[in-house]
Amino acid sequence: MSLVYELIELDRSWLEQMSLLEHRAQLSPWTCELIEASLSSVARAWGFVDRKQTEPCLFGFILVGLVLDQAEILTVSIEPKNQRQGLGKALLSGVINVLKQEGVNSLFLEVRQTNTAGIALYQQLGFERIGKRKNYYRLNNANKNTSQHPFEDAWVMKRVFR
Ligand SMILES: CC(C)(COP(=O)(O)OP(=O)(O)OC[C@H]1O[C@@H](n2cnc3c(N)ncnc32)[C@H](O)[C@@H]1OP(=O)(O)O)[C@@H](O)C(=O)NCCC(=O)NCCS
Repeated sequence: MSLVYELIELDRSWLEQMSLLEHRAQLSPWTCELIEASLSSVARAWGFVDRKQTEPCLFGFILVGLVLDQAEILTVSIEPKNQRQGLGKALLSGVINVLKQEGVNSLFLEVRQTNTAGIALYQQLGFERIGKRKNYYRLNNANKNTSQHPFEDAWVMKRVFR
């Protein structure tokens, strides 16, 4: 069955689905508690929902922190089996339109320097690299017995809306 989805703002009733999807998609997932705490303070979330299923199903979401006219992407995850079908781009584009309408002027993010999919997506959407955060991410699969460094740098990227 093909996906019939809509972009909606997600409230706390979606917390469990956000957390489960985050854990399926991310190397260093945000915990349910962290997502909840951010939604209780400065963050809002949007997602793609398929209401044709018996239970409405979330297959992509984004968590965005907002302070005045600046916003930051805290995490974005697309269901692994639905990746590379244009959903990540559609989700970000849709949310960028909402943010612009609400008076946001710039959007920031951090991304693992080895996350080629994420970096390509952000570059396609007009984000530019503005800096680097040293050892920002912990590598979950780093093996103590090898010389692999257990931390990874992040790229800081920014897009200014005009
Ligand atoms: C990164 C992510 C959000 C992209 O979502 P997606 O729905 O798979 O991406 P899209 O199909 O919309 O692709 C848009 C563009 O992103 C880039 N891209 C996406 N997946 C890619 C991959 N595996 N390799 C290289 N480039 C990729 C391409 O430039 C692509 O454009 P194209 O299809 O015209 O070449 C998704 O892969 C994901 O959830 N990954 C795990 C979590 C993550 O890394 N989140 C981002 C950092 S927090």
